[in-house]
Amino acid sequence: MIIRTSVSHGFLILSYSVVQICCSVVTLLPENRFWVEHEWSFLNFTWPTLGKYIAAIGSGAYVPENIVPTGLKVYNDSIYLSMPRFRSGVPVTLAYIPMDTSLKQNELLIPFPSWEMNDERFCANLQSVQSMEIDTKGIMWVLDGVRINDYYKCPPKLVLFDLNYNGLFVNSYTFSNEVCLQNGGFLKDIVIDESEGGYAYITDNSNIDPGLIVYSRTKNRAWKLRDRTMFPELWAANFMVKNQRIESLVPIDGIALSPKPTDETENRTVFYTSLTGFDLFAISSSVLKDEEFCRKDRWRSYVKFVGKSTDRQTE
Ligand SMILES: *[C@@H]1O[C@H](CO)[C@@H](O)[C@H](O)[C@H]1NC(C)=O
Ligand SMILES: *[C@@H]1O[C@H](CO)[C@@H](O)[C@H](O)[C@H]1NC(C)=O
Ligand SMILES: *[C@@H]1O[C@H](CO)[C@@H](O)[C@H](O)[C@H]1NC(C)=O
Repeated sequence: MIIRTSVSHGFLILSYSVVQICCSVVTLLPENRFWVEHEWSFLNFTWPTLGKYIAAIGSGAYVPENIVPTGLKVYNDSIYLSMPRFRSGVPVTLAYIPMDTSLKQNELLIPFPSWEMNDERFCANLQSVQSMEIDTKGIMWVLDGVRINDYYKCPPKLVLFDLNYNGLFVNSYTFSNEVCLQNGGFLKDIVIDESEGGYAYITDNSNIDPGLIVYSRTKNRAWKLRDRTMFPELWAANFMVKNQRIESLVPIDGIALSPKPTDETENRTVFYTSLTGFDLFAISSSVLKDEEFCRKDRWRSYVKFVGKSTDRQTE
């Protein structure tokens, strides 16, 4: 029943395929109990005018049943949600709701940082956001990189907003086709390493060119690592969920960063895994940060096999 989940600070977003409820935000309480905070039968927004809402329904610019939230992040008193444009009729790809509010049913989402920035007609604006991360300084790093269908004409990018100034635009970095395909790229998940001016480690879930992308904020450059540990595992595919055969082969997807070390000289570890797969791998951030080293082949000897997960079949 659950088709997508995303976890942040003990919050969980669930997107269902059942008819009555589209999705909910659930809090994890101690002792692994769940508490439903918000629930939607469809996602709707704080339209600027009733006329714009009616026009969007009429033109097909807003098709509520086509909107699926995939990313969730919590910062101070707001819950941020991303909704990739997997289909037509998604007027907003990034939005938020205030955390403490009495209305928990079908709460209207507020476009973030603005309606204008969610206007897909211009490449400088957000096109299709799968997920985002917020660093300790309140900078939100947004992955605008779902390029797996024909709804976008714009190259994938990483956009930074400052939450300390109402989501003020900070920087936008457009990925070259060599790093992420404009036609077939799929920037899926991101972790932030705040050392040395800030690095982002990003999974490109593209089934044409999967890999791990590194972005340096100081250099304003990005590079990509490709390895067979980032491919789907054939023997992990082909299983049954509720009488439905799942045969898709999904490459590198999940990514995590080891906690910030107390000793600044200590390197952090980046973990990654393919969605279709049982194996978890790790690599030191010191390897990823070295662009020159990543352009050769020796970095592959630093990939470590961490272990196998055995219950992935039921995901
Ligand atoms: C969607 O939100 C707008 C306000 O932004 C409201 O006028 C409209 O009635 C809502 N639609 C539904 C079906 O609740
Ligand atoms: C978030 O909360 C912290 C601690 O209360 C505060 O220092 C900071 O200014 C807040 N940031 C924003 C963007 O509201
Ligand atoms: C971190 O990585 C660098 C570069 O590989 C290495 O020189 C250094 O010794 C590492 N630090 C620690 C504490 O292992």
